[in-house]
Order: sequence, then structure tokens, then C-alpha cells
Amino acid sequence: SKSEIGLIGLGTMGAALSLNIADNGFDIAVYNRTASKTKAFMNSAGDLANKFTPTETLEELVAAIAKPRAIILMVPAGDAVDAQIDALRPLLDKDDLIIDAGNANFHSTNKRAETAQKTGVPFIGMGVSGGEEGARFGPSIMGGGPKEGWDRVSHILKAISAKYEGQPCATWMGEGGAGHFVKTVHNGIEYADMQMIAEAYGVMRDGFGWDAKACGQTFETWNNGPLQSYLIEISGKVAMAEDPQTGSAMLDIILDRAGQKGTGRWTAIEALHLAAPIPVIDAAVTARNISAQLDQRKAGEALFGPAPHAIPVGTLERQDIEGALIAGKIMCYAQGFDLLNAASTTFDWDLPMPAIAEVWREGCIIRSAMLNDMSSALTKDPTGNLMFAPFFAALMRTHEAALRKTVSVSLAHGLPVPALSAALTYFDMMRTGRSTANMIQGQRDFFGAHGFERTDSDDGGHHGPWAMSAS
Ligand code: 6PG
Repeated sequence: SKSEIGLIGLGTMGAALSLNIADNGFDIAVYNRTASKTKAFMNSAGDLANKFTPTETLEELVAAIAKPRAIILMVPAGDAVDAQIDALRPLLDKDDLIIDAGNANFHSTNKRAETAQKTGVPFIGMGVSGGEEGARFGPSIMGGGPKEGWDRVSHILKAISAKYEGQPCATWMGEGGAGHFVKTVHNGIEYADMQMIAEAYGVMRDGFGWDAKACGQTFETWNNGPLQSYLIEISGKVAMAEDPQTGSAMLDIILDRAGQKGTGRWTAIEALHLAAPIPVIDAAVTARNISAQLDQRKAGEALFGPAPHAIPVGTLERQDIEGALIAGKIMCYAQGFDLLNAASTTFDWDLPMPAIAEVWREGCIIRSAMLNDMSSALTKDPTGNLMFAPFFAALMRTHEAALRKTVSVSLAHGLPVPALSAALTYFDMMRTGRSTANMIQGQRDFFGAHGFERTDSDDGGHHGPWAMSAS
């Protein structure tokens, strides 16, 4: 009998996803460009081997799948996806479905979806989060594209997805690139969560002089409180680990130059295009970029002397940093959802805000206890800024002082906390009724006669007394 679904690309993620699909009872046909990889995969499939139909050509793959077909692509994002679609399309029927499960840029997904509408082979762009383990045992899945296409395969996707109290973390987000856009914002938030945790670690390491173990124990403690999350949990594990080669703390051996594949950067770029303020995510992307300038940082230290100074005992407590992380996290998600809202309106997507918080509750990298409270808040007010939701406003009132203290003490001692400072500045700006943008407007009118609005009148186009003045 024919397979219910096919998958192309048996790399780490593709192999894990295939095993997950088979494990959930579905027959699946698999194909990899290099056939040896398919053989190796089959040899490692163990008890699940009978669920798979290994194939060596695309024709064989297509022939092995029941109609109307559905084929998942798990190939490197970029040109490889287009090449694969081009090779597949002539072999497929009009209502067969291609599903790109890689980390595609949503603009590419939009284009592929448009082409698909013309060629008749519908296209789903699907964000998958949770790393290899997630792919194998339950990822968070953010789908986008034609709803009929999604509905046709959603029983498989829901079955393989992570579950939050029994609810599958697999949701259709909207047309075209909506799923990949939501995944991109997920990754931007992932960068910010990671950066704020790294900053907390920095304050403990350089400000308190704590060793990696003490930092790790702190993360373990925090993971039992409001900060409970996968990223806090693994940060504790990373900090507690020893290097098998030297016996030193693993963290002390890892070079401080952060890699990135670009999804965080895409989030920042799209937010700028949409004029949606996401300063915490921006700061996290920038911090990775600065981390990469290792030689210059070393030269800077030689020239100016080391920056971080010890924080005198009694000036800042561990609980202050915990409070700062809570407040910082709220600001970060407020911005992330604000960006999703802006995109939803601009791209006409109607993104399901509470469902986005829900799909992130399990399986993905940013899963955390707080996301459940966010889904409740967004259910009541889907387009409202989270910092104004009563639950989170109360948390901000409680933890504002800790964030302010952590940031100001850190800055006073030369400890960089760019994401936490961005969170605090965002909070301060968002609660300032009278900002300083009146000066910007004055300047714009002075040099370019751009006009301004007055506080005492409803119409615009006013000018200052400086018009035509010789400067
Ligand atoms: C996920 C992750 C994943 C991402 C990597 C690395 O949700 O499972 O976001 O998709 O590709 O974790 O991303 P960077 O290399 O950009 O840090």
C-alpha cells in the first residue's frame, strides 16, 4: 500500500521528523539526494523500519505516496528549496501538496506560495521549532499557506507535534508566509530571551564574582519560579557542566563569539520595515554581532582597561536579577506580539494572537510558563500591548524596581546589559505621556519645513517662527 506522506531531506531534522511521523503510526516514503544517507537512515530506523518506503529517485518517491500527495521538504533554506520544488513540480498532480518545513525567510515563502497558485501545486510554509529532540518527539509547528492544504495534513502534523495539556502545538497561522513569519518572530524572541539570560549570567560572573556552578544553581532555582522555561533550564545545565577534557566548567572553555543563521536578524529587519519597535530583540541581534568582533574587543580591553568591575556586596541581590529577567521578558514579548500585530495588519493575515502564544507553550525553544498567561491575556485583548494587560501590568509594577536597579547598578560598574537596558528604556518610553519628540518635530520643521501638529489644535501643518531665517 502507498505511504500517507513523503519527506525529502534526511539530515538531522528531516530524519528526526520522519521517525516522529512513523512513530505516530503513519506510513512515510523518504528520499535523500545522496542515496547512501537513505540507506544509513533505514539501518538506524530499528522497529520503525516497516513504516518507511525508502526511495532513490524523485519519481520513485512520488509513485510511493497516496494521492492527493503531500511531501515535506526538509532541505537547507534558500536556493535548495526552489531547486527541489522545480524538480518535483513536473512529477506532481495539480492538487498535490508541497510543505517546506525549513527555516525559510517568509518573503521567499510568499513568493513560492504565489508561484504555487499559478502552477496548481499548493505550497505550505511551515515553521518547526524545538531542535532535533523536538523534531523527533514533538515540535511546535507554525503553518502557513492555503487552509485547505493545511486541513488535509493537519491530522498528521497535530499527531507529531508537542502537546500542552493534551492540546497539540500545531496551528495554521494564515495565508502565504504567515507560518514562517511567526517562526521568525519566535526566533527573534529566542535571541532576546537568550541574551537576557546571558546578561544575568554576566552580572553574576563579573559583578558578583560567582563561578559557573553558582550561576548554574541560580538558574536551577529560578526555573522553579515565574521564569520557568526551557531556556532557563538549559542555561542551568550549560552552567553546571564540566569540560570532559580539562575538568573546568564547560562555560569557562567556550569561546564568547556567538553564531547566528540569520532568523533573529530577519526579525529585526522586518520590524524596521513595519515600524514596529522591538528594541529588546534588536539589542540581542546587535549583541551577537558585537560578540563576533572578538579581536576588536580584545584591543579595546588593552586600550581602555577591563570594563566590568565587581559590584560591592549589598548593592544588588540575586532576587533583583530574577525580577529584572521577569520584567525584561514581559517587555520582550510585548514587543514581539506588537510586531506580529503590525505584520498581521500590513500583510492582511489575521494572525491568531492567543493561538500563537499557545503554540509556543510546548515543543519550541521559547516554551515557558509565562506563555500560558500570555495566551489568557491575548484571548481577552488580542491586539493590545501585553504590558497593559492587567496580569502583566501588575507584574511590571512588582518588578520594575528590580529591573531598574539591575540595569543601573550594572551600567555603573561597566557591565553591559544591552537587552535588559532596552527593556527598561522601552518601559520608560511607553509610560511617558509627554516625550521629547516635540524637539524632533521642531528640528524637522526648522531644516525642512516638514510641519508639525500643535498640542492646542487638532490639525497639522503648523510651522515655527524660524521659517526662512538665516541660520
Ligand atoms: C528552533 C530554533 C532553530 C534555530 C537554531 C539556531 O526553534 O528550533 O530557533 O530553528 O535554527 O536554534 O539559530 P541561530 O543559529 O540563528 O542561533
